[in-house]
Amino acid sequence: MNIREYIKTNRILYTISQFNSHSNIYLVGGGVRDLLLHRSVLDIDIVFETLDYKFLDYLTDVFKVESIIKSPFLTWKISIGDIEIDLAHTRGEYYREPGALPETYPVHSIYQDLKRRDFTINSIACILTPNTGDIIDPMDGYHDLREGILRVLKAGSFLEDPTRAFRAIRYKNRFGFIYHPLTEEEFEHAKKLMSRISASRVRNELERISVEENRKEMFREIGLKKLLFHWRDFFNTFREDMLVSLHEYLDFEKDTWFYFLLVYTRDIEALGGCGLLERKERRSLERILALDRIEKEIMPEELHRWFRKFSDDEVLAAGALQGLKKEILRKYLLRRKDVRVLHDAEEIKEMGIPASRLNEILTILEIEKMKGKLRSKREEEQFLRVLKSRHTFLP
Ligand code: CTP
Repeated sequence: MNIREYIKTNRILYTISQFNSHSNIYLVGGGVRDLLLHRSVLDIDIVFETLDYKFLDYLTDVFKVESIIKSPFLTWKISIGDIEIDLAHTRGEYYREPGALPETYPVHSIYQDLKRRDFTINSIACILTPNTGDIIDPMDGYHDLREGILRVLKAGSFLEDPTRAFRAIRYKNRFGFIYHPLTEEEFEHAKKLMSRISASRVRNELERISVEENRKEMFREIGLKKLLFHWRDFFNTFREDMLVSLHEYLDFEKDTWFYFLLVYTRDIEALGGCGLLERKERRSLERILALDRIEKEIMPEELHRWFRKFSDDEVLAAGALQGLKKEILRKYLLRRKDVRVLHDAEEIKEMGIPASRLNEILTILEIEKMKGKLRSKREEEQFLRVLKSRHTFLP
């Protein structure tokens, strides 16, 4: 399907293409790249050279959205169901200092806007209206797309913005491209200035990588290129075995990103202090690192002794760290999902079991139930009476 035909089939792009505009409105960035690669367009970034409020009104009317959110940098955001559209005036950028967020200023030519970008493949514009489907490609991005080359627009690109090193790794491995020699050189620049990037920007890059199908290759490259080490020197290991297991075990969800930090460090104090982690995430890692060795040939139900209070993701990440098999962990998670103790806490206490032993007793009881035993309340009760007289069971 060619571009004009694709635009007709995409409700949002088609609607925009129907706006009667006197100046060009463009689709830019990842959307054009994906369109040319015949992938579905997930990101819709729109730019215009002249701000026309009628266009914004048109979008709110047709898509029946309450409002368009305006941000300070000549950009707007509109959400249509799950899809977000970013709208912006064409703009230039300059960096007050390397590693800082760029300052932006309006420009009146799409060419200038395209020239401030990261890679040639992301610097192509597609006119949505009035000449729907025409491509503007001053950096030869389409050539690089066809050849599978990831090329920066200029030397020093990663000096200005070292996060582009993470972006490069993401695109190269997502599309199976190779780096242009100019891009290769940029990694050395990025390393020099990596320490200047804020924790939130690093976090954002790692989150984005953790949902990528090829995240294993991406995290590996970050490790081999020592990018995180150049950001903070306590990221000083690279555990391939751990990476392979985490990749295999964890879902492709954004909130699993921080487990991958264990591939590069075990220094929880430093991790806690570097601003990357939210409190909940730090606690998860602490809990995982505090575990004693768990025997590899263990029965799935027995894992409950260590994991009763762990979330499913924590179980999988801890299991990966311990070298436990994925099938054992999955079996355990499946069984514990269905386990229901028929006595409530009050009833157990009334049997003379002190609150301080409740957690321990419940763990044992749940393990038995996972094994398919103690089906009735009466059987549970008999078992509880036996347990009451015993001492300690947990590791
Ligand atoms: N961009 C840039 N430099 C950056 C970040 C973004 O030049 N450090 C430009 C690129 O032209 C990019 C566009 O802004 O295409 C939008 O950025 P983003 O949404 O982060 O990336 P996408 O290209 O949409 O890629 P992805 O598919 O990974 O979301």
